[in-house]
Amino acid sequence: MNSHKTAISRTNLSKPMTIFRDAGLLDGPTLDFGCGKGKDVEILGIDGYDPHYFPKLPVKWYNTVTMNYVINTLDTHYKRLQAIRDAWKFVDVGGILIITSRTYKDITNNAIKHGWKPHAGGYITGKGTFQIGFMNDQLREFLSY
Ligand SMILES: C[S@@+](CC[C@H](N)C(=O)[O-])C[C@H]1O[C@@H](n2cnc3c(N)ncnc32)[C@H](O)[C@@H]1O
Repeated sequence: MNSHKTAISRTNLSKPMTIFRDAGLLDGPTLDFGCGKGKDVEILGIDGYDPHYFPKLPVKWYNTVTMNYVINTLDTHYKRLQAIRDAWKFVDVGGILIITSRTYKDITNNAIKHGWKPHAGGYITGKGTFQIGFMNDQLREFLSY
């Protein structure tokens, strides 16, 4: 699996983290699960974990765990659910897990534009990585399995 190749080198805070920070959702202890190269972690001064870039597992629980743009890079339903379960293990009592995904529209538009090859309900990109987009309803549905 080459999901780590989907991680981009950011220079600024990501859009989801900007929204969460401005909404006060990152005020307590926060873990960015699947943090990629770690720019959000660095800017916000929070903890990060990524199986490829920062593989040291956290040893505590957090008020907020974020998982941004991870599930859309995994090519089976099982892997996506497992990643969510893994992230959930680090949520403290009364805490929250926030999951974001690239949207169906975004992925479909990119697939058309760049000629990505259909695969497992999503696409293989030009870099050989997997991408699948979700609509809110689909996210809700697959979390209820
Ligand atoms: C598209 S990047 C997103 C990185 C970061 N969250 C961001 O928004 O820039 C996807 C990341 O998910 C990580 N990843 C892959 N499988 C994972 C898993 N099971 N649990 C947590 N992270 C995973 C990859 O290593 C990769 O860095």
